[in-house]
Amino acid sequence: MLEELARTGRDPATNGYLRDAWSPPELELREWFAGEAARRGLDLREDRNGNLWAWWGDPAREPGVVTGSHLDSVRQGGAYDGPLGVVSAFAALDVLKNRDFRPNRPLGVACFTDEEGARFGVPCVGSRLLTGMLTPERALTLKDDEGDTLADVLTKAGRDPRGLGRDDETLAQVATFVELHVEQGKALVRLDRPVGVAQAIWPHGRWRFDFHGRADHAGTTRLPDRDDPMLPFARLVLAARDAASRRDIVATIGKVRVSPNNANAVPGLVSAWLDARGPDETDVRALVEELRPLAAGAVSEESWTPVVDFDHGLRERLAAVVGGDTPAPILPTGAGHDAGILAAAGVPSAMLFVRNPTGVSHSPEEHAEQADCQAGVVALASVLEELCR
Ligand code: GLV
Ligand code: MN
Ligand code: MN
Repeated sequence: MLEELARTGRDPATNGYLRDAWSPPELELREWFAGEAARRGLDLREDRNGNLWAWWGDPAREPGVVTGSHLDSVRQGGAYDGPLGVVSAFAALDVLKNRDFRPNRPLGVACFTDEEGARFGVPCVGSRLLTGMLTPERALTLKDDEGDTLADVLTKAGRDPRGLGRDDETLAQVATFVELHVEQGKALVRLDRPVGVAQAIWPHGRWRFDFHGRADHAGTTRLPDRDDPMLPFARLVLAARDAASRRDIVATIGKVRVSPNNANAVPGLVSAWLDARGPDETDVRALVEELRPLAAGAVSEESWTPVVDFDHGLRERLAAVVGGDTPAPILPTGAGHDAGILAAAGVPSAMLFVRNPTGVSHSPEEHAEQADCQAGVVALASVLEELCR
């Protein structure tokens, strides 16, 4: 299945993926999902927020166990972040069917919409809308880099933006959610284990810093006469690194918009996106407050996700099922996931991580060995069997 998906949205120049939510490649991936569901005789539903659900059994009668992930990517992302969880979900169902396992409750495969937030800036749009963590009023006005709102984009994709919002009916169908994901770090390499279980997700957020200045000629404007927003922006980049390292947390500026972006002009406006994360919310908040005065304009919080501590009983049960004699390792992560959003909304949720030999992620270099992916599928099948017994 990963091979089937390998070409969709791939940039031949870099081998990175461009799978923005609701873009042509992502729509193609949604079609692929529908085909896989149909091939297995699963009932496909798209909820009001664009999330896809493929059910074995009827969750309207009794809530079910759901597994899955997302098919969108960060820009120039890897092949595994998201898709590994979706293909492993289908593959685990195949394993169960081959074992003649008959689940005694409905079993679902989910594909959440716009997990990465690459296009509209807010991550986990599908699961946040589903759970009410993001209001439809705010979601509909989010704009992409072309200036199109989510409402415009949904309408163009043939969806009704008026349907967006908290969806208790769909949420009530999910008794438990398990997301398998490629590890985004090297803990499993160090522990010499192919599969681990998630312990917690660090609190994290994104802030836009605006630096207003005055656009002017690069050749004729004397240095003392300039109001160049690139200078305070440069100070922010260095200060963010310093503030993060003092607190032993992480802070990143990975996206910048320079306006008008001419080589021969002093810019008039620089906008920079700060992503900050750490085990303790207090440190992350303190870092943002320390940096806030460096902006030469507004600072806006575009998303915030509080700490997620996954259900202790569930994670230990999964570690035992996956690990056999030596329970699978239970690991914290600095990466956000739909499983974290569902957990925050009160759905018992858990995650499995599959070893990543280099630890690299959000990059074309992201990788997982086939044997480890297969170990992940077997682990997920055993987990589903346990939860559906
Ligand atoms: C999602 O991958 C995130 O943590 O940014
Ligand atoms: Mn990601
Ligand atoms: Mn992901």
